[in-house]
Amino acid sequence: MQRFACRFFAAPFRFGMLAAVLAAFALTAGEAAAVDLSVSPKNEKTLYRSEDGKTSPAAVKYALKATDGKKVRWTLKSYPVWLVPEATSGRAKKKKAKLRLSANIAVIDGLAPGFYTKSLTFTYGKGKKARKVRRNVTLIVEGNATEGRDLFMAKCSGCHDLYQNKSGPYIFNVYGRRAGTANGFDHSDALRKYGKVWEEENLNDWLANTQKLVKNANMYFRLKDPAERMNIIAYLKDISP
Ligand code: HEC
Repeated sequence: MQRFACRFFAAPFRFGMLAAVLAAFALTAGEAAAVDLSVSPKNEKTLYRSEDGKTSPAAVKYALKATDGKKVRWTLKSYPVWLVPEATSGRAKKKKAKLRLSANIAVIDGLAPGFYTKSLTFTYGKGKKARKVRRNVTLIVEGNATEGRDLFMAKCSGCHDLYQNKSGPYIFNVYGRRAGTANGFDHSDALRKYGKVWEEENLNDWLANTQKLVKNANMYFRLKDPAERMNIIAYLKDISP
């Protein structure tokens, strides 16, 4: 601030006066409010825990930066228990600094199969100027295909065969297949129109509540237990080379 003020005072008098007023204003009101924390990326991060015990990626990284080129002190106020941050506070500067949070294997090993979405909350600034930045991160814990096979036999095989259409379409290769495209099966218009490729997330939504994902599809089904859904999905993946 001082450096700027000196340069302006060296200019003609009225500019000097103007600069002095602006400088005083900046010192009293503007200065602290201008500092902002940027956390990138903005989009959600995903960790995947496979059945054979590998978590990938093994860590998530964020870049922290002070947007106005000054320094800003940040604190990581909350984060999921399945991540271990290398630091929970620090000073962000003009240049991007990386914050790494690694997968907490011991905790992840104890989790049932399912989707776990949590947010990281960074806080910065003081008093009235305190702010928050949130970033979502999802952990997908893969299910067990053997258990999934038993569940499939018990809950799905009345309508679905692996290779033949029954009242429901054949299910072989369904993971990675486009919805509503089973050969020779008369699909609903709703599912055809939906037309997305089946993968972890939409299969999980589909099995949780088919009508919520695709209104007016011809399968009416709700499977409440997230671990059971993940086990079935693991089986569907297994039979889809
Ligand atoms: C009462 C019969 C019935 C049961 C039980 C049933 N389904 Fe279905 N399923 C259907 C029908 C009918 C469709 C076709 C929906 C459409 O075209 O709108 C379908 C479609 C699907 C699709 C989409 C297929 C594609 O080609 O896009 C998947 C995946 C699926 N079922 C999985 C399952 C699983 C897994 C279970 C057991 C947890 C199950 N279904 C239980 C009748 C059933």
